Amino acid sequence: MKRLIEIYFKSQKSTIFFEPFDNFAQIYPNTNVVLLTDEKVHSLYRHKFEECNTIVVPEGEKCKNLETVVSVINELLKYKADRDTAIIGIGGGSVCDLTGFVASVYMRGLRHSFVPTTLLSMVDASIGGKTAINFDEIKNLVGTFKHPEFVVIDTSFLDTLSDKDYSSGIGELIKIAVISDEKFFEVLEETDLKDRKNINYNIMFESLRKKSEIVIRDEEDRGIRHLLNFGHTFGHVIERDYNLPHGQSVILGMLIAMKISIEMNELSEEVYHRIHRTLEKYLHFKEEIDICKLACGISLDKKRRKNTIDFILLKEIGFPKIVNMKLEDIQQICNKITLELT
Ligand SMILES: NC(=O)c1ccc[n+]([C@@H]2O[C@H](COP(=O)([O-])OP(=O)(O)OC[C@H]3O[C@@H](n4cnc5c(N)ncnc54)[C@H](O)[C@@H]3O)[C@@H](O)[C@H]2O)c1
Repeated sequence: MKRLIEIYFKSQKSTIFFEPFDNFAQIYPNTNVVLLTDEKVHSLYRHKFEECNTIVVPEGEKCKNLETVVSVINELLKYKADRDTAIIGIGGGSVCDLTGFVASVYMRGLRHSFVPTTLLSMVDASIGGKTAINFDEIKNLVGTFKHPEFVVIDTSFLDTLSDKDYSSGIGELIKIAVISDEKFFEVLEETDLKDRKNINYNIMFESLRKKSEIVIRDEEDRGIRHLLNFGHTFGHVIERDYNLPHGQSVILGMLIAMKISIEMNELSEEVYHRIHRTLEKYLHFKEEIDICKLACGISLDKKRRKNTIDFILLKEIGFPKIVNMKLEDIQQICNKITLELT
C-alpha cells in the first residue's frame, strides 16, 4: 500500500512517500532532472539510472568535500542545469548531505529531493534540511539548511546494504528513540532489528515523526535541535580516528555520553545498562577505545564556543538535557570512565 507523510517546515513542505520506485524522473514530470548518486549505488542499480542525466561521485563519506562539490557543479554546467532543473540525490546520508548542499548553492538554489538507499538516510538524514560537507577533517563544517521537496522511501534498497552500514542506521534510530520517547524505545528494544523485515513502516514513520517534531521547534539548530546531537560529540571524533561508519560511531558516542551523565549524577546505572544492552547488539566494534584521547579531539567540534561545548546528557529515556560544559571538565571526567564492550 502506498503511504505518504507531509511535514510542514517553515521554508518548505517535505512530502515523504513510502513505495517501491523504479523511475526516478517521475518525481519531477516534465522537468530537466539530474540524478546524483555514489559509485557503489550506481554500480548496484545501474539500470535505474539509464533514463536520466546522472552524476556519479565517490562512495559514501568520501563524497562530502569541496573537490566533489566543484566536480558536481562542472557536471551540472555540462548538463545545462538552470534554475528550473531539479536534482535528486539517490544514496545514503552522505549523498543526501552533498545533494542538499549543491542544490542550495548552485544558482542560489535548485529544487531537490531524495531517494534514500541506506537505513540511516531513510530514518534520519533525508529529513530535517541539514546539508553538509567536511572540511580539513572537520566533520560537517560547511553546510546550509534546505529541506527536500520529496523523499521516496523504497525499502528494497536495503537488500544490498552491508550489515555494518545497516547497523549504523540502527544506531541513529535508537538515538532518536532514546532522546524522545520511552514507548518508542521499548518497541525497538523488543524488536529484532537485525532482521530487516522488522524495520517496518511504523518504525520508520515514528523515527521521522520524532525527528521532525524536534526540527520544527528549532530549524536553524540554535537550541533544542542540539538534542539530536546526542552521542555525536564523541561520535564524530570516533568516526574520524577509528574510521567507523557514522551510526556505529554514534552508538559508541552515546555510551560515552551516558557514562558522563552517570558521573554527573544525571543518569542511573540501571537505565545505562538497559540502553547498553540494546545498543550493543548492533555494534560491530569491540576494540578498546582511548576515551581520554577522544576527549582531546572534541576541541575540533564545530559546536565548540571558546573553551565550552553544548554537551547532550541523558537523565532518563526520553529526557535528554543540553549542558554547556567546559572542555577541560569533560576531559577530567573522561579520565574516570571506561566502556565495557563484550
Ligand atoms: N543531514 C542530516 O540530518 C544527517 C543525519 C544523520 C547523518 N547524516 C550524515 O549521513 C552520513 C552517513 O550516512 P549513511 O550511514 O547512509 O552512509 P553513507 O551515505 O556514507 O553510505 C555508506 C555506504 O553504503 C553504501 N550504500 C548506500 N546505499 C546502498 C545500498 N542500497 N546498498 C549497498 N550499499 C549502499 C554507500 O555507497 C557507502 O559505501 C554521514 O556523513 C552523516 O554525517 C546526516
